[in-house]
Amino acid sequence: MKSAIEQRQIQLAQMEIEKYRSIVESDPYRLSYHLMPPVGLMNDPNGFIHWNGVYHVFYQWMPFKTGHGAKFWGHYTSCDLVHWKLEPVALAPSEWFDKNGCYSGSAVDNHGLLTLFYTGNVKDEDGNRHTYQCMAVSENGIDFVKKGVVVTLPDGYTAHFRDPKVWKKDDDWYMIVGAQSESLDGKAVLFRSKNLTQWEYLGAIAGGKQKQLGEFGYMWECPDLFELDGQDVLIVCPQGLKAKGMHYQNVYQAGYFVGRLNYETAEFVHGSFTELDRGFEFYAPQTTLDAKGRRLLIAWMGVPDQDEEKHPTIQQRWIHALTLPRELRLIDGKLHQVPVEELQKLRKNEIAYTNVTVANEEISLEGISGNVIELKFDIHQLEGMIEMQIRNNARLIYHHDERVLTLERKSFVNGLTEKRQCRLEHLLSLHIFLDTSSIEVFVNGGEEVFTARLFPYPSNHSIVIAANGKCIFDITKWNL
Ligand code: FRU
Repeated sequence: MKSAIEQRQIQLAQMEIEKYRSIVESDPYRLSYHLMPPVGLMNDPNGFIHWNGVYHVFYQWMPFKTGHGAKFWGHYTSCDLVHWKLEPVALAPSEWFDKNGCYSGSAVDNHGLLTLFYTGNVKDEDGNRHTYQCMAVSENGIDFVKKGVVVTLPDGYTAHFRDPKVWKKDDDWYMIVGAQSESLDGKAVLFRSKNLTQWEYLGAIAGGKQKQLGEFGYMWECPDLFELDGQDVLIVCPQGLKAKGMHYQNVYQAGYFVGRLNYETAEFVHGSFTELDRGFEFYAPQTTLDAKGRRLLIAWMGVPDQDEEKHPTIQQRWIHALTLPRELRLIDGKLHQVPVEELQKLRKNEIAYTNVTVANEEISLEGISGNVIELKFDIHQLEGMIEMQIRNNARLIYHHDERVLTLERKSFVNGLTEKRQCRLEHLLSLHIFLDTSSIEVFVNGGEEVFTARLFPYPSNHSIVIAANGKCIFDITKWNL
């Protein structure tokens, strides 16, 4: 059973949902098919799992304000990754080991029990941070009982030690934790267990000043480690990387290393760091393996400390959302992300044009418009520059000669144009998902992805295509 304090916390959060329901629901920027909080602030996805035929996504949740604080675990379930149901709160801060927040973590199936691992965040009377890796279990996947602390802080690290991701390999359980060493380098730290309650510290498998890395940020958050196509992929969110050309443009980064983990020696030999997303808002991704054998990823469509207090939805008592679930593939050592195929269920009113030519002009095509739509744009021929203007708020621009793809948007802070870019040898296709206040662009079958929040005038649904030079393409649109 939950403690009286935890029950009371959950009751207060529930009251907050009821109190502001109509305000949140009347927001024109309220998302139509992305996960967002019922009220308050949502950040990282947690405990992503396909369990007994049901997909579960928990999320970091602050019900009482649109800022960060003592986090709860909110909870959504789905049978198809498309239609989601808001479930009762899974965890609320309440005990000595998590009183200032049930921070990020993961879920596994342990002999039929849905078992969560999360970070208990604690601030003592002097304002010092303490961290505990904790466990909670559920028989029905809805009601969770806390089992307390399973991992305490090992020597050599500061209390910035959090976000346990747990998985099974052969007969052993492994846990990877995001950490900061006492020398203030970001690290990913590995543990092993036979029973999920006693954990053996194996060491930092990757981090700043380790192997070929050199300085690589002062903290690594939200690690995830999994096997894909015969390789081991380590996802981490380093904080403290300096912007470098088109890279590391956001306040904090989310990316991965591909390599090989020796589970015996806990040595991870890996290549260089690659960003997962090239847009403005993407952080703290988490993956799971589903019953179909797919490696799925979902992320926070936000970045900590990146103009969060300027989001227009704050007036409507909510902030942030999660990305679409995506399927991962490793192609030539690079992660590709494609939206899960189940999303096709949302398609209505298909409108398609084939072999459209735009040459030194801008056009809009009858029926190719909307605010909650999916667009497929396939290029047959391109000379010069092609651009797509979206709702008079964002532009996707590809310069073939410079081999650069750009996403521009009007900043929600000051209305000025800001951009994110990546190098791209050829632009072959764009697969775009627009929601009332978001965009996800999958480039060339997921070779690059741009994820961002957009806040256009709600009534503007225009899509304009322009070419400086010549472009021949097919385009299909569905309302979602
Ligand atoms: C990442 C993060 C995690 C932490 C959680 C707190 O956004 O800072 O490291 O567990 O958010 O909400």
